[in-house]
Amino acid sequence: IDLSAEQPAFPPPPLGARPVDRAAWIAAFHHVRDETERRAAPLSPEDQQIQSMADASPTKWHRAHTTWFFEQFLLRQYLPGYTIHDERLHYLFNSYYVAAGPRQPRIMRGLITRPNAEEVAAYRAHVDRAVDALLKEASAAVLDAVLPILEIGLYHEQQHQELLITDILHAFAQNPLGPAYDSDWRFPAATPASGTIDLPGGVTQVGHAGSGFSFDNESPRHDVLILPCAVDRALVTNAQWLAFMADGGYSRPELWLSDGWLAAQAEGWEAPGYWRLDGDGWASMTLAGIRPIDPALPVHHISYYEADAFARWARRDLPTEFEWEVAARDGGLADAFGHVWQWTRSAYTAYPGYRPVEGALGEYNGKFMSNQFVLRGSSVATPEGHARTGYRNFFYPHQRWQFTGLRLANYRG
Ligand code: AVJ
Ligand code: FE
Repeated sequence: IDLSAEQPAFPPPPLGARPVDRAAWIAAFHHVRDETERRAAPLSPEDQQIQSMADASPTKWHRAHTTWFFEQFLLRQYLPGYTIHDERLHYLFNSYYVAAGPRQPRIMRGLITRPNAEEVAAYRAHVDRAVDALLKEASAAVLDAVLPILEIGLYHEQQHQELLITDILHAFAQNPLGPAYDSDWRFPAATPASGTIDLPGGVTQVGHAGSGFSFDNESPRHDVLILPCAVDRALVTNAQWLAFMADGGYSRPELWLSDGWLAAQAEGWEAPGYWRLDGDGWASMTLAGIRPIDPALPVHHISYYEADAFARWARRDLPTEFEWEVAARDGGLADAFGHVWQWTRSAYTAYPGYRPVEGALGEYNGKFMSNQFVLRGSSVATPEGHARTGYRNFFYPHQRWQFTGLRLANYRG
């Protein structure tokens, strides 16, 4: 019996596994490539063109940039005789790799109508065929060099699968008609949970361990001191957020960080992102179009500044990223994954002794380690198999177009 046929295609086998299972890697590659196209499929060429703000990118750009990543970092180096699909695309679809050369300014990604959506599909097919050939034909020695890059390319594409969804939601939210990405889409219900995970405190190890994939920003594994604390099992809900709003949460400067207050005033925030008054109550723009707010769901589309103000109002704390990690690992947080990314109080900085890899791929995570905060868990938009307990997502404190929420914590005397 061929048991391998029953393994899920993703994640691929650990890098160290011998003999190398080429078929499993090919399956993982196609699994990820297909998922991107599945997410793009409901979107017309016009939908795929739009860039609704500087932080968001067109669907078509996500499809092409993830393809460029394999071409640039894998095929160029490792597939002898590979023909670059179109050298001119390098400038258009390099995102932020300064070492890889000049690039289209981020805020101008939506201005590119050619290649069109169909031509991007052809680019994807060209690269798919080449990666297939590489994985089938590479010598064992070449494969050793190729698989770590293929692996990061797969997790990279999954990150863009999430961005594809959050970016089209932002674009559709600008349309007064409130178009649905998928009219059957529903935010998953919260797991009933109450009480806290009580951490005893002490020195413990955090960061990546084991043989599976991790991003470089999760290493080195190291000791941290955890203080005795209690982390809520449940996520903060819309009902709790409505109580904060009713208590003047958005109009009491004493609850807010100075930068947060300025952002809230400048942006006119009086509710989470995408919320709008609808008759007597609140509704919000969702992937299924405009829907009434369900008080039982975890609150989402909030910035770090709002999460911080809410915690101050509630006389609680946001957990640090390590309190979150230990509570998730040793405790049993409800809805840690698959609902909302959870803001932590931790600045996104390097773990002790972190060194980015040499070359352009060293720019992947390390150069963003200033002025951002860490989010833990994963969201409804995160692809299956992507996130883990040690995973560190990061965004600027004013950003709220991702599926971002929070859970509260406090110290124990
Ligand atoms: C980890 C989600 C902040 O959006 O730039 C995509 C993911 N990195 N391509 C980002 C990413 C390279 C990254 N975030
Ligand atoms: Fe990228």
